[in-house]
Parts: sequence; C-alpha cells; structure tokens
Amino acid sequence: MAVRELGTGENVIGRSLSDLEKYKNKGTGYLGKVLMSSGERPVLGSKIRVDVARPHLMLICGKRGSGKSYTMAVMLEEMARLEPSVRQRISVIVIDTVGIFWSLKIANKENVSELAEWDLEPGNTDVRVLVPKGKLDFYKNRKIPVDGAFTLKAAELEASEWLALFKMNWAEPGAVLLSRVIDKVKEALGTYYGIDDLIATIRKDEDADKNTKFAIINRLNAAKNWGLIEKKGTKIKEIAKPGAITVIDVSAYRQAIGMEGTKDIIVALLGKRLFEERMLFRKEEEMKLVRGEKRESTMPVIWMFIDEAHMFMPKDEDNIALKVLLEWVRVGRQPGLSLVLATQRPNKLHPDAISQCDLFISHRMTSQPDIQAVSALRPSYMHQDFDRYYAEMPRSKGYALIIDDNTEKIWMIKVRPRFSWDAGVTATAFTK
Ligand SMILES: Nc1ncnc2c1ncn2[C@@H]1O[C@H](COP(=O)(O)OP(=O)(O)O)[C@@H](O)[C@H]1O
Ligand SMILES: [Mg+2]
Repeated sequence: MAVRELGTGENVIGRSLSDLEKYKNKGTGYLGKVLMSSGERPVLGSKIRVDVARPHLMLICGKRGSGKSYTMAVMLEEMARLEPSVRQRISVIVIDTVGIFWSLKIANKENVSELAEWDLEPGNTDVRVLVPKGKLDFYKNRKIPVDGAFTLKAAELEASEWLALFKMNWAEPGAVLLSRVIDKVKEALGTYYGIDDLIATIRKDEDADKNTKFAIINRLNAAKNWGLIEKKGTKIKEIAKPGAITVIDVSAYRQAIGMEGTKDIIVALLGKRLFEERMLFRKEEEMKLVRGEKRESTMPVIWMFIDEAHMFMPKDEDNIALKVLLEWVRVGRQPGLSLVLATQRPNKLHPDAISQCDLFISHRMTSQPDIQAVSALRPSYMHQDFDRYYAEMPRSKGYALIIDDNTEKIWMIKVRPRFSWDAGVTATAFTK
C-alpha cells in the first residue's frame, strides 16, 4: 500500500510545513481517516484534516454514486464549524445543480450508529439557500427550505451572453438586432434597464424586419418567465457574506428545455463579479498591511463549490461560464478565490481544471478515458499507476485517493459520515 505516515495523531493535507508549525490545526476541517489496510474489513487509522485557510483548487472525481457530492457536503459541514475568527474571513458559495445541499440544514437522525462509530453525532449546518426569484414556487411546492431569492442585473449581461443564453450566433440577423438594441438602451438608460426596455426598443427599431423582431421578442419574453434577469440585481455583497455558506440552487432550471443556459449565466456573472471584487479588495488589504494595520476587509476570501463541474467547464464545447472559471483556475488563488470542483467525467472537463489542481480527491473510477484524463496529473512522488490505486480501493462508498501537491503526499482515506441528512440518496423503487 502506498500510504505513508501511518502514525497516530492527525495529518493535515493542503498545508505547508511552515503553516503547520505556525497554525497547527487552526483553519482545517475533519475530512476522514487514513485507510491502513483494505480487504474485506478495511482498517482505518489516523485522522485526515484539510486546510481551508489558504486558497486551493480542489478537484473531486469519481464515478456516479461514488461519494463526490457527499464529500463536498462533509467539506461544507467543516467550513461551517471553523473557529469564528477564521470563519468570518471566508464566504462559501455552493452552486447546486441537483438541489441536494439544502439538506445540510437537517441533522442526520437516521445515521446515528455510523456516526457513533466515528465518535460523532448528528448535527445541522447553518447554510443559506438562495433560489432564482421567479422559481420560488418550484421550491416551495417541493417543501425545500429557502432563505431568499436572487436576481441577475440585466445591464451586467453583455450581448454575447444574451446570445449564448438564446443559443444564437453572431451570423443570425437577430443577433445583429439584439446587440444594436442593447447599445441603444444602454445609451438611453445607463445601467438601469430591464427586459421590457429591450422589448420596447426592438418594437421601435426601423431597420430590422418584422420576423426578426418577432423572434427576438419571443425569446426575451421567454427570458422574462425565467424570473432571473431584472433591472435590479442582487448585490454581490448580499450573496457573498462573510462567515456564511450560501447555496445557490439552480436545480429548477435543470429539467426545463430551453433554459439550460440559465445556470451557466448565473455562474458566469457570479464568478466574474466575485473575481473583480476580490481583485479590488486584495489591493485594499495589501495597502493596510503596508500601513501596518490588520489585514481585514469587508470582502471575505471566497470558496466556490461547483458540483457537476464538467457542465460549466467542458473540454470540447463552449460555455459562458468557462472563460470566467478558467480565470479562477489559473490566477484565482492570488486574490483569494478557491474552487472545489466535482465531476464524474474528468474526461469531459477542461484539462486546465485538472492540471492546475493542488488537491486531488478521487473516489472510485472505472472508465478508462476518465482515468486517462486524470493520469496527466501523475506527479513524481506517485509511485504507481492510477489503475493500481483504484484496484486497491475498497468497493464500499466514501473511500478516496488523495494527491496533495502541497505536501507531495498520497493518501488513501475514507471520508467521514455526514452530520446532516443526505438528500442525494439514490432514488430507489423500494419504499422501505
Ligand atoms: N463517506 C461516505 N460514507 C458513507 N456513505 C457514503 C459516503 N460517501 C457516499 N456515501 C453514500 O453513497 C451515496 C452516493 O454518494 P454521492 O455523493 O451522492 O455520489 P456522487 O455525487 O459521486 O454521484 C450517498 O447517498 C451515500 O449513501
Ligand atoms: Mg453527485
């Protein structure tokens, strides 16, 4: 087995030796335990904690049902339990495409015995669930506890983003009309306009023909029904609150045909605004340090969790969110932007998201193209092929291989049980 450092005590992944000496376990979360021997009855050893005080790019892989979303939930539970001085400096945003993370709010009373084996107890986690304003009923009907609604500001969408939303390209006559109209409205109204203003301006347009105008107005009317894009958008400071975990639930758009692009625009605009804000505040923080003042600003460092990340960062397709997220991946750590990406299809994920990650957590994988895709990671301190690790991994859920570039170590672990109820439990035909 390639597991190293089997001693007792705790191990911290993602943390340099100097940080470990200075801060010990402060700003870390309890992720699981080291697997000491596999086989029929796997034996678990010392605790594995993960650093969340420094920015990271974490990639969680594994085939469907192997525990990716579960591991994300465990991370979120730990972020919520950080000591207040650290927690206040961090804002966590979760992009929930499936609608499962709200259940962090509910303590897991069904799993008491498994938690007890780990000397743990059920508990609820303080998360805020925000949903698109126009979809509030969708969530209420499903009895999902919602804390608030959000909207995107119409003026923040570029013409290219509208076109992507409508799945149109620049060559279409409608595209020319739409971008002309956006320019006109901007000139007349500045940054305070809504979809109705765009429609009214199209009606008055004298250059476009009737059919083209009709087609665009139809699309804009459909967009109005999404209940997402409005004159007034939710302020970024309202979304990224210090010390808060905010779940942006976009699952209402999952089933709806013609609305696939809405979740992408949400991630794109959010990612863009957070990037800009952090760059600004980073400068402010540095100025304070230079003046010998304490490093703190009103804009916390950001951790964004994206489940099903291949949807937003595809390898061979375009996506409105891709450009923004690649920026996070490439230079985000400097201004304090961390990403936790989960995917069952690393082969479909943009290769930069794989090559740039500093913490790789992989549950079981069986598909060769996917294993191939992560093989690009293979660092010099890894002494056997990925296939071998996956073959050695126990079959039951929650086991994971960790490659930690910060400490240059490889671990095989079992992720701890959740404190909270798991809404992602596989649907089954049995009622009991
Ligand atoms: N660490 C774990 N401990 C116990 N059960 C787990 C663990 N990880 C996953 N599971 C079980 O496996 C199921 C599927 O996990 P999930 O995270 O939803 O898979 P994925 O997101 O990879 O498709 C969970 O509902 C849970 O029952
Ligand atoms: Mg999942």
